[in-house]
Amino acid sequence: MNELKKIAKRLVSEGKGILAADESTPTCTKRFESIGVKSTELTRNEYRSWLFSTIDIEKYISGVILYHETFHQSIINTNISVPKFLKKKNILAGIKVDTGAKDFAGFSPEKITEGLDNLRPRLNDYKIHGAKFAKWRAVIKIGKNFPTKTCIAANCHALARYAALCQESGIVPIVEPEILMEGSHNIQKCYEVTENVLKNIFMDLNLFNIDLEGIILKPNMILPGEKSSERISNEKIAELTYNCLKNNVPSTVPGIAFLSGGQKSDDAAARLNLLNKIQKNKPWKLTFSYGRALQEDALTNYALKDEEKVKRALIKRAKLNHLATLGKLD
Ligand code: G3H
Repeated sequence: MNELKKIAKRLVSEGKGILAADESTPTCTKRFESIGVKSTELTRNEYRSWLFSTIDIEKYISGVILYHETFHQSIINTNISVPKFLKKKNILAGIKVDTGAKDFAGFSPEKITEGLDNLRPRLNDYKIHGAKFAKWRAVIKIGKNFPTKTCIAANCHALARYAALCQESGIVPIVEPEILMEGSHNIQKCYEVTENVLKNIFMDLNLFNIDLEGIILKPNMILPGEKSSERISNEKIAELTYNCLKNNVPSTVPGIAFLSGGQKSDDAAARLNLLNKIQKNKPWKLTFSYGRALQEDALTNYALKDEEKVKRALIKRAKLNHLATLGKLD
């Protein structure tokens, strides 16, 4: 089996998922400010070091997505680099390589994700320092006159170019098209947009000769907009999400690792659990690549500067989501 396939399979191995700890410095600062903590290089390092050194976290977490700053830091009070530390724990190190979703010229308020410039040398450098996988997030908004075909085409094209560069460097690309929850659209609209985006992505990935066995897809679940008055059961959300993926994601893709996208932590775990109960023999693994839905409670405890509480909160969420990947959360 080639290296890319091995890494992709490891990322979605039985009962495991991914911890997304790749918040950019401005996003991390917002999160820290919400709990009254000053965001500095040192506090970001301390918080993330506590997360990564949680005992037994490797039982539930196969990989961690890092932000550039963390990737080049050491675990606090040691001189062990973060990627080396994760490797010792049998956790794969990943790196966010996009440089953010920026205003899409001529199509405001839509966004285009940037970061292709110099991506080849950046990937090679990350690879030398231990990165095994990468992440690129495209953002699609739903509103009255959007998403436009142009925004979808441009973002899918960029995702495919990113994926090609990753695979050339021996790095597994996480392909993340996020249909945002913001807005008042109904669940049907989310289904249609997600389906359309997935069709475009796989068309472009094929066009760019991407080896689908060497990628991980990181999609949103099918949800009504956060301002919609629609009340949909978790069972229905799981069913629509499963159908949308079944109809649009080739069975050669080894794993689908959902983003949480602002869902409550309990909902994100419950829905993943239901998704895993739908079919015993799914073509791909269904797991998590959560940021907020894994870290929310840990972050609250970081305000108390209580290392043990931060770690307990993280392991609790990681374990719940581990059970959800097995459909055994009830
Ligand atoms: O790109 C998004 C993150 O990796 C996942 O974050 O689970 O908070 O949406 P989230």
